[in-house]
Amino acid sequence: SPKPTYRIAAIPGDGIGVDITSAAIQVLDTLATANGAFAFKYTTFDWSSKAYLERGWYMQPDWEAQLKKHDAIYFGAVGWPDVPDHISLWQMILPIRQRMNQYVNVRPTRILKGTHPPVAQLQQKPADLDWIIVRENSEGEYAGQGGTTHGHTAHATATEVAIFTYVGIERIMRFAFETAKARPRRKLTMVTKSNAQRHGMVLWDKVFYEVAKEYEGVVEYDKMLVDAMTVRMVNRPESMDTIVATNLHADILSDLAAALAGSIGIAPSSNLDPTRSCPSMFEPIHGSAPDIAGKGIANPVGAFWSAAEMVRWLGKGELDAVADQFMQAIENVTGNPETRTKDMGGSAGTKAVTEAVCREIERVC
Ligand code: NAI
Ligand code: MG
Repeated sequence: SPKPTYRIAAIPGDGIGVDITSAAIQVLDTLATANGAFAFKYTTFDWSSKAYLERGWYMQPDWEAQLKKHDAIYFGAVGWPDVPDHISLWQMILPIRQRMNQYVNVRPTRILKGTHPPVAQLQQKPADLDWIIVRENSEGEYAGQGGTTHGHTAHATATEVAIFTYVGIERIMRFAFETAKARPRRKLTMVTKSNAQRHGMVLWDKVFYEVAKEYEGVVEYDKMLVDAMTVRMVNRPESMDTIVATNLHADILSDLAAALAGSIGIAPSSNLDPTRSCPSMFEPIHGSAPDIAGKGIANPVGAFWSAAEMVRWLGKGELDAVADQFMQAIENVTGNPETRTKDMGGSAGTKAVTEAVCREIERVC
């Protein structure tokens, strides 16, 4: 039978998003060639803040139909100083997450070889940090409900309404328990703020304990308030494995996780439609980094790790070994001081790291 060709919608976006997306494509193609059992075919979309400044729009009116022709979306980063960030977010990235039914955001964090974590415990025992953060990606604090009244006066009043639905909470809890169950430690920590937020967060807790009944004796679980959670992440990283939290809480906690792991430039994220009715989207968690854009020094490792997660997802269990080899190739490169970028204490550029990963893939995969 002909080998599967995965159709990838590539959205490089702005700033270093452009550099790291082309690096990811180069590495993915090297992987496909080395493996031989599958291939990738890309459509590149020029949706960016730069384009928005020129033409007044990010995406074509039929963007949904265009994206749905693909098996996955690979996304660089969007955002540029001349465009307010809420415009780039709400005209592109949030509509994609919502309309492509990507209600789960998964952020794995561990300490890759060659990174220098800032906390002493993790410098001595890097394996103490090995987490999957499962973020609710469709509602909560980023649901977009609210409004502004008397905006141009001293009486300006703005509301930002968080939305929590039974259906939305139940499906994220179920995904989180399944994720925890599939990992060796079978442990789930649920994050909340149900002492101060007594409606939505109380429902969040209630649904968590309901779903937990189905995993009694299979997955060990506990509950944390979000403020105390930041302390536990720093002081007792080894005490956690899988973590589930709301859209806002998990957004913040995953940046903390990336910093604890040594660099924002290495962290990946997957926006998943677990029903697989729409393409899922894979992106490094960093932004467009205007301060280093165009300098050729962006760390492409977060982009590569995101690409490895895309391979894992596309393979539906068949490509896990390939994704693991891909990760091994990445770590062989980060483990070598000669092939680390500046943010990891080295002096190699994006291109040199990319080429080193390609050579490692040809050797390992
Ligand atoms: P950022 O992640 O772009 O940069 C934060 C700091 O980390 C900067 O000093 C940057 O140079 C450094 N950095 C980030 N990625 C790096 C990499 N791969 N290698 C080396 N250094 C790296 O976050 P910032 O500055 O808050 O946002 C810049 C723009 O990006 C904004 O317009 C923001 O809205 C957007 N953004 C977009 C995201 C997305 O597309 N998903 C996510 C986060 C921010
Ligand atoms: Mg964020």
